Amino acid sequence: MPVRGRFLTFEGTEGVGKSTQLQVASRTLDELGVDHLITREPGGTPMAESIRELLLAPRDEPVHETTELLLMFAARAQHLHTRILPALEAGRWVLCDRFTDATFAYQGGGRGVPEVRIAQLEELVQGSVRPDHVILLDVTVETGMQRARRRGELDRFEQEAVAFFEQVRNTYLRRAEQSPDRYHRIDAGQSLEKVSADVASLITGLVRG
Ligand code: TMP
Repeated sequence: MPVRGRFLTFEGTEGVGKSTQLQVASRTLDELGVDHLITREPGGTPMAESIRELLLAPRDEPVHETTELLLMFAARAQHLHTRILPALEAGRWVLCDRFTDATFAYQGGGRGVPEVRIAQLEELVQGSVRPDHVILLDVTVETGMQRARRRGELDRFEQEAVAFFEQVRNTYLRRAEQSPDRYHRIDAGQSLEKVSADVASLITGLVRG
């Protein structure tokens, strides 16, 4: 029976370079011979990807915060139970582009949903499962938004105002401060080479440590 793999999540506001750094982490794991799965939230299975489309599509109809919250956790339940947990149980590491910290940051910090409400759904959907390590790529909201805008059309979240993303970022930073053993803040405002080097060295440390 293989040892359970490790569950690593990548978080941050818009335009922090998560996708690029997930690839850096993946290459590092390849070099060290660690079998792993790369996935993302919301999404990661065909059904959860359909829910992602529902969530991200800009629409005229106002989306109630509870609808948004439940859809995030519906997608997560499907993804966690049918893809993430089987991979971890098979001994693979899982690199996930966002997870429940994003719900605390976006629906909690950004939309103002009480933290206790999110924690209840976290318990319902995940039981005791939490990421082993959270890699928080942190950059000022201004820099992140400039980068996100350069990528082209904005999704429903990217269309939010600066104040929304300030709350999102503050929530991430607060959570990282509360659990320094599990959260690793990386300054994503540095050069791409430096951010990539920081991520590679963090991942190497986690494999060897
Ligand atoms: P992405 O653009 O990083 O792939 O993420 C899609 C959007 O979904 C992003 O704007 C953040 C948002 N999101 C939440 O609001 N709550 C969540 O729980 C997750 C996973 C993502």
